[in-house]
Amino acid sequence: MAASRNLHGTFDRDRILSDSDIRHIEYHDTLPSTNTTALELLGPLLDNTPALVLTSSQSAGRGRKGNLWWSSGGALTFSWVVDAAHLPVTIERRPMVSLAAGLAVRDALLNLMPNCPFVLKWPNDVLIGDHKVCGILVEQHSVDQRQAVIIGIGVNVNNSMRDAPSEIAQRATSLFDLEGHTFDLSTVLIAILQRLTYRINQLTTQPRLALAETNRHNVLTGRIVTLQIGDSTITGLCVGVDDDGQLVLQTELQLHRCASGIVVKWE
Ligand code: BTN
Repeated sequence: MAASRNLHGTFDRDRILSDSDIRHIEYHDTLPSTNTTALELLGPLLDNTPALVLTSSQSAGRGRKGNLWWSSGGALTFSWVVDAAHLPVTIERRPMVSLAAGLAVRDALLNLMPNCPFVLKWPNDVLIGDHKVCGILVEQHSVDQRQAVIIGIGVNVNNSMRDAPSEIAQRATSLFDLEGHTFDLSTVLIAILQRLTYRINQLTTQPRLALAETNRHNVLTGRIVTLQIGDSTITGLCVGVDDDGQLVLQTELQLHRCASGIVVKWE
């Protein structure tokens, strides 16, 4: 890790360490994927968690279900790594961590842009209208009998959709595109890290409230949703997210509780 105060002139290392509960920062100017680096360095990272894998430029970001995550310069891309044994969440409630991460990003962005109607799309996308501003990839992995949870977060902050491939530009946006000015990336990162700690703790201290907030902000609730699960799809009325973090879809025949899947349509 660079010992200098500024990481690539982009991130303020001292401020990140003092204003969040991060204990170690693994910073590289460029990386293919912060989640992949987190997996590669998992053993040492687990000695000092929560740890942060951070880059100023990610070239091969990974998305959910094997998708690619596009990001250009100015995007915020990082992975938060924790020893699962240190999470204040029982193993049954672990799926809720993924939802808590979405809530945390929404909280942080709303603090920065209070008039912007940020919503969540299950399990943890953060959108404005139907344009995605943040994607989250949660992975679990074991090393030396220790289990890690890696939360990879990509937020379109100072990058612009003008530089994006057209299929992405059509369904995504950035804070810069919305506000017309850049944001201090350390400030955005610290805000997210602080809310992540708060929202993960809330899963134990106020689980009902955490679930209620997920449901209140989930754009899918009350909509007809098509979910792709493997090679098949289910279309039904979304009645919300249940106690286990599953998306609940009502079809003509039955209630489906879906633990994973890709939302391909909502109307
Ligand atoms: C998705 O919406 O499909 C999830 C996208 C997750 C992207 C972030 S960027 C930082 C971290 N590193 C990765 O390779 N992916 C996640």
